[in-house]
Amino acid sequence: MRYRSIALLSYFLTLHGAAAQSAAAIAYAPTLQPCPVGTTLVREVGVDAHTQPLSFHEADYVSERRSRILPGAWAKYLRNVQANIPAVLPQYVDAILLGSFGKDAFPTLGIATSGGGHRAAIFGAGVLNALDGRNKTSVRAGTGGLLQTATYLSGLSGGSWLVASLAQADFPPLPDLVFGPADADGRGFGGWITQIDVLQPGDAIVTAAFVGELIEEVALKRAAGFPLTITDVWGRALARHFVNGTTASDLLDPALPHGAGTTMSSIANVSTFAARTQPFPIFVTDSLTSRTQGAVVTEPGNAVPLNSPIYEFNVFEMGSFDPMLGAFTPTKFLGSPNESVCATGFDQVSFIEGMSSDLFNEFNVSADALAASSIGPIITALQTLFSQAGIRLDAAEVPNPFFGVSSATFPDSDQKLLALVDGGEDGEVTPFQPLLVKARGVDTVVAIDAVRDLPADTVENWTNGSSLIATQHRIGLFPSSYSFPPVPSSATTFVAKNLTRRPTFFGCNSPPSRGDPLVIYLANGGPPLGEPPLTNTSTSQLQYPPEQVQAMLNEVFDIATQGIPIRTHGAEAKDPLWPACLACAVVDRSRRALGIARSGVCNTCLERYCWS
Ligand SMILES: *[C@@H]1O[C@H](CO)[C@@H](O)[C@H](O)[C@H]1NC(C)=O
Ligand SMILES: *[C@@H]1O[C@H](CO)[C@@H](O)[C@H](O)[C@H]1NC(C)=O
Ligand SMILES: *[C@@H]1O[C@H](CO)[C@@H](O)[C@H](O)[C@H]1NC(C)=O
Ligand SMILES: *[C@@H]1O[C@H](CO)[C@@H](O)[C@H](O)[C@H]1NC(C)=O
Ligand SMILES: *[C@@H]1O[C@H](CO)[C@@H](O)[C@H](O)[C@H]1NC(C)=O
Ligand SMILES: *[C@@H]1O[C@H](CO)[C@@H](O)[C@H](O)[C@H]1NC(C)=O
Ligand SMILES: *[C@@H]1O[C@H](CO)[C@@H](O)[C@H](O)[C@H]1NC(C)=O
Ligand SMILES: *[C@@H]1O[C@H](CO)[C@@H](O)[C@H](O)[C@H]1NC(C)=O
Ligand SMILES: *[C@@H]1O[C@H](CO)[C@@H](O)[C@H](O)[C@H]1NC(C)=O
Repeated sequence: MRYRSIALLSYFLTLHGAAAQSAAAIAYAPTLQPCPVGTTLVREVGVDAHTQPLSFHEADYVSERRSRILPGAWAKYLRNVQANIPAVLPQYVDAILLGSFGKDAFPTLGIATSGGGHRAAIFGAGVLNALDGRNKTSVRAGTGGLLQTATYLSGLSGGSWLVASLAQADFPPLPDLVFGPADADGRGFGGWITQIDVLQPGDAIVTAAFVGELIEEVALKRAAGFPLTITDVWGRALARHFVNGTTASDLLDPALPHGAGTTMSSIANVSTFAARTQPFPIFVTDSLTSRTQGAVVTEPGNAVPLNSPIYEFNVFEMGSFDPMLGAFTPTKFLGSPNESVCATGFDQVSFIEGMSSDLFNEFNVSADALAASSIGPIITALQTLFSQAGIRLDAAEVPNPFFGVSSATFPDSDQKLLALVDGGEDGEVTPFQPLLVKARGVDTVVAIDAVRDLPADTVENWTNGSSLIATQHRIGLFPSSYSFPPVPSSATTFVAKNLTRRPTFFGCNSPPSRGDPLVIYLANGGPPLGEPPLTNTSTSQLQYPPEQVQAMLNEVFDIATQGIPIRTHGAEAKDPLWPACLACAVVDRSRRALGIARSGVCNTCLERYCWS
């Protein structure tokens, strides 16, 4: 995108002026105050994956969810499966999910929703909708209710827009999240408003005013002494779509806060979070480290080495379980200078969505390339306003809470600032990392892979399995920290064996000693049976008419509910046993732990869906 005139933009910037303090600017600027007595800003968890503890608050969330919410959720899911399959599940499936072996035998399920811009957000929403027990069509398909049983929901990049908007909007049904509820009033969540382009909401004049407004909103953060980057501005644009406080009719209203002030830590007070009825949300970013530890191991074509620390953000903490760091800081005090003076309001949801989807460093090969990218006009505006005053234009900056920590192994221990970027830049577009943390005990992962960005895996913008291969490679670098099931070592095999075009289970026959979860892989590898391709849209598309989104959601529903199509007399149809097979996979680790043999339809199912 291009402005006809930078002068026009400068005019708007002067008109509004960085000194003007809009409601959004005030709500966006972090503030400093004395830390509460007894505050510690670093929680070191050590390097041994088998003894790293979760935060008290997360452990409490998960334990309450397991005892109060999951028994009902698993029972409901089981009923939905039983009522919609032409078979009888083995008795052990019922017994495990009805709690006959106690709540500790329930599966610990994590769902990972990938990056890939709007395409990924929509694809992920379509899968979550197909698993949502509140949607009667999903219940009739025998897959509804699984979403409600998940303990964790992780997201990165486009997937972080989905997971963050969902968590902060109080976990509405997916169609309400995407299209906004009928009674949206501008204070609650108004939907993704996909019909309005994220960076270019109108003609040149409208867009120039809009960009001016975004920059005005972040200016006070810098004035308050915090680092300001392109990611703040990008996040404020995303906020209009993926944070509470905007409807289609007021998106351009400069008087509204548009989600400024909505922090990650404040999600603790959202009612479904407080009641433990939503899965625990986790967001992933990669880091651009200041130095490397040993050899740099980068997947071909990726910007971030696999041995750089991966950070996670959750409602309570930000940090990394990676063995080179093993430390966390309270999310609500992110940005704090020291343990006497605490910052609050730094952990804005919009900023975290922006960091998790910041690919701008990939354009940072020359000043011209950066200026020519989609974010170019904002860069020009930032430079106009702040006249090059040391603003990083390619990554997010976060005051390093781990300064001086793990100095022998942590490559940024001597840095005042962390430089954080899109969570998929190491090639792992599906956010497995938080779900592989031993302390979380996740034994089953539904992995949604909606195709990486820039470039996509295949020329026609379908996935080729490269994300799972990257995760397999990273896990190989940290063998005592993480375990991952064997997956094919080449994308050619993924594609040739159709593993990206049908649900595939990985790790079915792993020995317990391997410690890996069973992975249920749902990829955007091709259109569903007999339908035209609608879900391989280009990543650079930042605007979608609602009809297109609905058509994509409907198609993803079929992708998530068809299983491996059955061929009879030359015609193909959805696999009627798919819901049973999904349930068999979901309980399989619990079954194994109880020492029960796989039997009945679960035998047939796992033979059919497992990659050997
Ligand atoms: C966002 O709005 C929804 C209503 O649409 C509300 O339930 C929720 O609490 C709000 N979230 C925050 C963080 O204020
Ligand atoms: C939750 O709400 C209470 C009462 O309004 C407030 O005191 C507390 O700071 C809030 N917690 C967070 C994490 O925002
Ligand atoms: C903590 O940070 C504040 C604000 O930057 C500074 O004024 C103060 O001197 C620092 N205190 C200590 C003990 O370092
Ligand atoms: C480009 O990357 C370099 C090296 O990481 C960094 O120092 C520089 O600030 C980046 N340039 C911009 C304009 O952000
Ligand atoms: C698969 O995708 C990756 C990452 O986009 C790419 O580097 C690789 O060449 C692709 N491989 C095949 C066989 O298509
Ligand atoms: C989507 O896939 C179809 C068939 O594979 C292809 O013809 C089309 O060009 C692709 N669209 C995009 C935007 O990549
Ligand atoms: C992959 O799917 C295509 C299209 O449905 C089919 O023609 C082909 O036989 C499948 N290949 C394998 C190895 O299953
Ligand atoms: C795939 O997406 C890229 C941009 O993300 C686009 O340039 C390309 O044309 C698309 N491929 C096809 C076949 O449409
Ligand atoms: C359930 O999902 C289907 C498939 O996407 C959709 O057409 C329908 O509107 C959804 N129903 C509700 C009540 O959300």
